[in-house]
Amino acid sequence: MLLNSQKNPLPFTFVAHDKHDERHQGAVSIPIYQNTLFSYAKSDEPGHSFKYSRMGNPTVQELEKRLAALEYGEKAQCFASGMAAISAAILSTVRTGDHIICVDQVYFGTREFLEFFLTRYGVEVTYVDGTSIDKITEAIRDNTALIYLESPTSYYFQLQDLAACVQAAKARSIKTIIDNTWASPCYQNPLRLGIDLVVHSLTKYVGGHSDVLGGAVIGSSELIDQLSRIDHQLLGGVMTPHTASLLLRGMRTLPLRMERLSQSAQTMAEYFSTVPCIKKVNFPGLSAHPQHELALSQMGGYGSLMSIEVEGTLEQAKAWVDQLDYFRIGLSFGGYESLVLVVGLVPDATPERPISLIRLNIGLEDPADLIEDVSSIHSFFQQKQSPGILDTGFDFNIASV
Ligand SMILES: Cc1ncc(COP(=O)(O)O)c(C=O)c1O
Repeated sequence: MLLNSQKNPLPFTFVAHDKHDERHQGAVSIPIYQNTLFSYAKSDEPGHSFKYSRMGNPTVQELEKRLAALEYGEKAQCFASGMAAISAAILSTVRTGDHIICVDQVYFGTREFLEFFLTRYGVEVTYVDGTSIDKITEAIRDNTALIYLESPTSYYFQLQDLAACVQAAKARSIKTIIDNTWASPCYQNPLRLGIDLVVHSLTKYVGGHSDVLGGAVIGSSELIDQLSRIDHQLLGGVMTPHTASLLLRGMRTLPLRMERLSQSAQTMAEYFSTVPCIKKVNFPGLSAHPQHELALSQMGGYGSLMSIEVEGTLEQAKAWVDQLDYFRIGLSFGGYESLVLVVGLVPDATPERPISLIRLNIGLEDPADLIEDVSSIHSFFQQKQSPGILDTGFDFNIASV
């Protein structure tokens, strides 16, 4: 994994240790090549491989090499955002008349891209319950070109059996893409299970500080070269060198932050499991999670995002969330800060028995403080309030997040 080395270091060593690099006067972190253009000494002797930063930039390339190594891929291509990476990855695998199978709880932005964008170009999409390999297999048609996965999913944290999906897809020459943002490259490496392309929103854990947007697609040289030339260069959603530098800095502490976030999230999920008004804690690290065994078999750890299903109205949920001290109300995840979001009522809620879905991102704060902060939940939801208007959809449009 160590770039330019025969050794195969573990992630902590890999992100913390670089070889001395004479090209940059021994600078310990790669400089920001703030250039659009790279000139040649002679017309027919370029002398280096860079031409123009939309086609490649040394700082961005350094990040790409590291991401590829962390995900056990041959190559990576960075993008301006996770959505730019996702849309380019999907576009690179389908043509007019093709069919896509997508997990039904996929990130909302991806679903909107499929629904509003790809259908314009004659690509059909079937959404399936990703927890069932039978449902995925049954949805396969003669013109299925892609199975798009996200494991775990963004709101209920349901898993897909990645090895089984690969087996079903490969038998019919269907490509597979997975959004691996939640687990990060530290805790799940789908390329090792045979998935064709992994996409990440680097905005989340890799950046880690809620101050930079970025995305990446990782896979074989063949697939990435094809995607780089057409879907990356021509759509033009490229990453800037300054963004790449911030992401390289974030990556230095990625395994460290993941370890801490994962432990704190586990502590919080276990705490929530003891609270009577919480009917369900959606977090695959819990032994009570219906897919915990599968999680153990294909993941090495868990991310910081979870959801709780609380018996109570949306008004109660919002009132509880509004008085928390250490959870800021907001979208996204993977930064240093704890976040909370009232998503909406769960689908099987009724006016007589409202159940609110609340999503929480556990940050780097001390979990003892976080538990003290959320411990008001039971008394808060016990207070009788008039049932809210039944709203089974999401509370507001999270598609653009
Ligand atoms: C699971 C997941 N994938 C992709 C994205 C899109 O990433 P970005 O906001 O960097 O475009 C998000 C954003 O919230 C996400 O949660």
